[in-house]
Amino acid sequence: MSNLIKIKNKINSFDKTIIVSGDKSLSIRWILFSSLAKGKSKAFNLLLSDDVLAAIKAVRKLGIKVKLNKKYCIIFGNGPNGFKYKKNIIIDSKNSGTLGRLIMGILIDTPHKIKIIGDKSLSKRDFNRIAEPLKKFGAKIKLKNKGLPLTIKGSKNLNPIKYLENKGSAQCKSSVIFAGLKTEGKTLIKAKKSRDHTELLCKHLGLPVKVKKNKNYDFIEVKKAKKIKPLNYKIPSDISSGAFFIVLTTLADNSKLLIKNVNINSSRIGVITILKKMGANIKFKNKRNYKGEAIADIIVNSSKKLKAINCSSKLNSQAIDEFLIIFLVAAKSRGVSYFKDIGELNQKESPRLKWGSKILNKMGIKTITTDSSIKIFGNPNLTIKKNIIINEYLKDHRVFMTSVIAALTFGGTWKIHDKDSIKTSFPNFLNIINNLVK
Ligand code: S3P
Repeated sequence: MSNLIKIKNKINSFDKTIIVSGDKSLSIRWILFSSLAKGKSKAFNLLLSDDVLAAIKAVRKLGIKVKLNKKYCIIFGNGPNGFKYKKNIIIDSKNSGTLGRLIMGILIDTPHKIKIIGDKSLSKRDFNRIAEPLKKFGAKIKLKNKGLPLTIKGSKNLNPIKYLENKGSAQCKSSVIFAGLKTEGKTLIKAKKSRDHTELLCKHLGLPVKVKKNKNYDFIEVKKAKKIKPLNYKIPSDISSGAFFIVLTTLADNSKLLIKNVNINSSRIGVITILKKMGANIKFKNKRNYKGEAIADIIVNSSKKLKAINCSSKLNSQAIDEFLIIFLVAAKSRGVSYFKDIGELNQKESPRLKWGSKILNKMGIKTITTDSSIKIFGNPNLTIKKNIIINEYLKDHRVFMTSVIAALTFGGTWKIHDKDSIKTSFPNFLNIINNLVK
């Protein structure tokens, strides 16, 4: 019962400053790079969520010493060949596709078979998309129904590959970059645009990775890394977590919010571009560069007039984790919004396109949904008066948080199950909500 949250009042207007948790993609990448580095790497503001803790547990299993407390994390790496592989180890990726897929790239040379498992949601997800290219390097990978559990056994004689990444998946691209860093010769990747944190960290660390960008694709050349330097890092806040509060403020009455120190990497800010086109009032302040990543404070004011969008698919990968929350803005907009080529949403922690549509329907919003698109018939006067129950969505953290924002901005009486799901990406979410509700 305690895993259920009930909301029956809309949020009152607020004017506050918040800090959201550290970026999940950067936290997991920092752990993986530091585990391959020679020496001591220290991070502040690491996201202490289940996905990230699973990554720490994973590198510990590979013989890496990690010191973790509430303030910082230190990883004592032994270099690119420094794992102490034991026989029959099992790595539990829990809910994290990023951990499960990226770590396979660094296990490309494991001398022993390693089993990778995950929770119910992750076990249903497609791991064949990354097993295929990694097998071409020379690894032996066995999957259950294209997913988890899987086993991976590496090879000493790895071959560099040519890889076309055509889904816009940063996880697949990054995993192949990690494998390329362990492989003699040139690995060549042509990748549809997706978040580029791995490439930026490689550049910052001076690793042999070259990137050429054109309009739709990035061309990446990766060579073997003989050495990796330790990386001291202060993880900026996660825009994917900030997005819930950006939408909360956009939809709330007469409110204002300052979100400090957020990563605004251009491959991640599709949510801002889309919401601004819809009439949201969002500004960046104090823009700065931190070790290759762009950071800013974000100021949001409520919007009185929101309009529908025919969203360009070019923005899809930049907003891939934010569509559910963007759909709420479409629900309040004048006109019919159209989002296309977003079939990848159904490959996430839950089939999010289906779930997004279901939530909107429960709210009284008409949608027309296919396997890869959604039309949302917005209603600027939408006020919910009925009871809404959200359950059985594979404990998807973003479904939970989107539902909370909907309840606080559209009204109605909501019962939202699986509160614990926020532990995967944003354990502090409800504390920040409670601070704004006060
Ligand atoms: C991520 C990439 C995206 C995203 C996920 C994090 C990453 O997944 O949805 O939350 O850190 O590389 P895909 O690569 O499957 O699109």
